[in-house]
Amino acid sequence: MARGKLVAGNWKMHGVSADLGEVTSISLAAETAGIDVALCLPATLIERAARAAPGFAIGGQDVHHAEKGAHTGCIAAAMLLDAGARLTIVGHSERREAQGESDADIRAKAETALAAGLDVILCVGESDQVREAGKAVETVSAQLDASLPAAIADPARFSVAYEPIWAIGTGKVPSVGDIGEMHSALRARLQAAFGGAGNQVRILYGGSVKPSNAAEIFAVPDVDGALVGGASLKSADFLPIVEAAC
Ligand code: G3H
Repeated sequence: MARGKLVAGNWKMHGVSADLGEVTSISLAAETAGIDVALCLPATLIERAARAAPGFAIGGQDVHHAEKGAHTGCIAAAMLLDAGARLTIVGHSERREAQGESDADIRAKAETALAAGLDVILCVGESDQVREAGKAVETVSAQLDASLPAAIADPARFSVAYEPIWAIGTGKVPSVGDIGEMHSALRARLQAAFGGAGNQVRILYGGSVKPSNAAEIFAVPDVDGALVGGASLKSADFLPIVEAAC
């Protein structure tokens, strides 16, 4: 079965109620896009966005590994679901760095989220120093191995996002050859972990995806969509990226 593409936006720490119009514009266009489209929003907007755009895939940007408990400021999978989210990102490099999240933490978050019924986008990616040292593929492959959930019941509900840290928000993008090499290596790791189901997991690319470079990136084998940061904030930027994936 062919993998359909997924284009997901990550609003990061952007967005207040005045921006909900962008969510509804994107959701209306997504109805006829013929691919999967999602927006991962700040927690404060999820419930209002889910009400404003019923049927559209709204997600969170992180989830705690515990079901509930004394974890001030954290969000449980059941809370995301209760607010109307269908998916969540885990392991974004901005959280790995700023919150000190380990591969083991991320594996636990992914397992908790999947078990609760959220779809998961698990992020991996290398620093510029690692890329320059020629160790990007081995480093990111090891990161994926250590972050993967032990099992995936439905590969359509689990995606990996390859996001080179040095490409995030910088306007720099790896060559299509480098993207292809990494996605092919990650596909091999998914096959090793999950057998045939590893062929059905989508591998997204993230890092300075724009309307001007999206088509070229989506044409790379084993690129099954994108995780888009800055260009997902406005429908005028995001929808051409969605169209390029169709
Ligand atoms: O989650 C999204 C990525 O960090 C990419 O962000 O598109 O602003 O480079 P960006």
